[in-house]
Amino acid sequence: MGGISRRHFLNGTLVAIGAAGLRHPLWALAKTNLAGVAPEQLLLGVDYYPDQTPETLWEEDARMMADFGITNVRIAEFAWGLMEPSEAKFDFGWLRRSVDILHKHNIGVILGTPSAAPPPWLTAKYPDVVEVNAQGEPLHPGGRRFTCPTNKTYRRLSNAIATEMARTFADTPGIIGWQIDNELTLSPSPRCYCNFCRAGFQEWLRAKYGSLENLNQKWGTVFWSQTYTDFAQIPVPLPSGGDPNPGLALDYDRYQSFANVSFQNEQLDILRKTCPRHFVTTNNVGLVDYIDMHDLYEKLDFVSFDNYPGFFEMLLHEQAKGGGPISWDYITSTIAMGHDLGRSLQRKPFMIMEEQSGKAGQRTFSPQPEKGQLRLWTYQAVAHGAMGLNYFRWDTATFGAEQYWHGLLNHDRSKSPGFEEIRQALKELKALGPEVLRSQYASEAAVVYDYDCGWAAQIQPAHPSLNYMAQVTSWYTALSAGHTGIDVIVPGADLAPYKIVVAPLPYVLSEAQAERIRNFVRNGGTFVGGFRLGAKNEFSQIVRTPLPGPIRDVMGVTVEDYVPIYSGKPGVKFSAALAGPDGECGIWADILQTSGAEVLATYTSGGHAGKPAVTRNSFGKGKAIYIGPDLDGASLARVLRNLATSAGVQAPVELPSGIEVTVRQAGGKRWVFVLNHKPETQTIPLPHPGTDLLTGQSRSGSLELRGYGVQVLQIG
Ligand code: GLA
Ligand code: ZN
Repeated sequence: MGGISRRHFLNGTLVAIGAAGLRHPLWALAKTNLAGVAPEQLLLGVDYYPDQTPETLWEEDARMMADFGITNVRIAEFAWGLMEPSEAKFDFGWLRRSVDILHKHNIGVILGTPSAAPPPWLTAKYPDVVEVNAQGEPLHPGGRRFTCPTNKTYRRLSNAIATEMARTFADTPGIIGWQIDNELTLSPSPRCYCNFCRAGFQEWLRAKYGSLENLNQKWGTVFWSQTYTDFAQIPVPLPSGGDPNPGLALDYDRYQSFANVSFQNEQLDILRKTCPRHFVTTNNVGLVDYIDMHDLYEKLDFVSFDNYPGFFEMLLHEQAKGGGPISWDYITSTIAMGHDLGRSLQRKPFMIMEEQSGKAGQRTFSPQPEKGQLRLWTYQAVAHGAMGLNYFRWDTATFGAEQYWHGLLNHDRSKSPGFEEIRQALKELKALGPEVLRSQYASEAAVVYDYDCGWAAQIQPAHPSLNYMAQVTSWYTALSAGHTGIDVIVPGADLAPYKIVVAPLPYVLSEAQAERIRNFVRNGGTFVGGFRLGAKNEFSQIVRTPLPGPIRDVMGVTVEDYVPIYSGKPGVKFSAALAGPDGECGIWADILQTSGAEVLATYTSGGHAGKPAVTRNSFGKGKAIYIGPDLDGASLARVLRNLATSAGVQAPVELPSGIEVTVRQAGGKRWVFVLNHKPETQTIPLPHPGTDLLTGQSRSGSLELRGYGVQVLQIG
């Protein structure tokens, strides 16, 4: 079967992509029987709150929603108090009436289990279910997401309401699937440090290490006299007179991830048993990294993410304390990376469970999306592999903490500014249909996003300004500037489908991961590692061999010195192979010494002037590149593009800034999504003739996209 990457679309060369773009079974095919969702079932809906709406309006809502063109809603994920007004007294009458009305209007229902917000009777009766924050202080009821993931009482009560919901709605017409909980850990206090978690941690450690002797050795507890003689002595990393043991701290982050995943999976088991015909998922903001998303979604039918580009803009504005312009290029690229992570987790199309539909915010309003942006964000998700979207939310609450979060209807139930635009987008997505929405995504490149590295770098950043997410984002942005399809993967993933794998700040590297990379390169892959490569093993101990530790043979270099930079920015000069203007090194420099590798760049200033900064080694049939400096964005983009081209992925493509291009494909057909993230009209060359799927018109020569415009072209 033929395939096309963005480059091939753009330079007009058809090639076979082979396994890379075609390896993922379609969710539609995989889940048809299990989930009972017909392959043509579209998931184009809204998040709806009948629990917050007078019953007299439900019929009108359903009629309007049907007229609006949606296929489904998600409801009830914050309605515990109404469903279980007192312990073990359940009332699903209202919910059934709501589901019936929706069903009558042909609207499918995704039910949310409500464990993100327990009712007051529960916390009054069981006060110890609350989370304890990283300072050791208990959280208080009154908001949401304030409970402990380990607490057995909370699990029992969460499972009880999930069980009752499942039993009640297993055979109810109209119910199509489930969302478990809501954005697990997404709160200002994402991890719990309570005594139940401490006991859970000790139990988890016992299973992981087997013996105290092993644990003491792997953590190096002899330091500061921390040798444990009983598992019960092991603390959680609460404030002490000095930092915790790094091995303990990293394991604690892993434990918290595990606890949340297992909290979820208890509900999953219940839903699987009682509702075998329904799909089950959970929603999350993928790049928030307190849970290893691979573990979270491992057993779920598909990945669902929430997506709020405009809210993100407001957060950045807040972080910048109002100063400085917010870069939409940065927002666009971060959002794209989130979508790519969502698709890569199960390597198949994913869903947006909540998509911004207007001004968004809790205490403050985000900017009103510009005309065209809501449709553009919808298409951006689809361009990166979404198979469906729910818009958050149908109406806008007049009460509660999210009064400022605008839905499709305003507070007075008039149509919001984005109403018609989203209606139009839904109409178009329906016209594209399941074949396009369930198609695969073409990617020959991968960026490694490793939770262990992120957590270890949070515990000991090595430089006060070093941030794992920022590094991953800048590498992703640099690589995507070349318009190549990118998967966002863990080092343990199968690397075989990729031509190039890049790993920013690969701080923690196990022998097993190193071996995977070794095999990947040996078999012809190109691996690009950033500074701090392999500095720590998986127990967060610094390796005893010269850096880059377990992968030194593959890289063909030794790190002579590593240099945190606090003042000045050493220059970096590139060799002919990476020809371009001199670059700048930001906050970190690994100084390299070659043992077989060729030098692609050297430092030009500072104490290490003349020393190798970037190197390339031939190993087996492949190449291994070490990028020692924290390179400026423009240099990094040029270097990664060059390396991707050499790896056979990417020819230089010049597109105006703000244009995004992605390719999806299925059954020999290819669809090219061209998005203009800028407010002004832009014209791009069109090397391949194609058919505009929305108008049916043929296009060739060039393509004009109005501000925030979108085109979907079918090629071949
Ligand atoms: C999140 C949550 C929703 C709602 C929206 C808007 O993504 O999942 O419950 O809070 O944001 O705040
Ligand atoms: Zn806890």
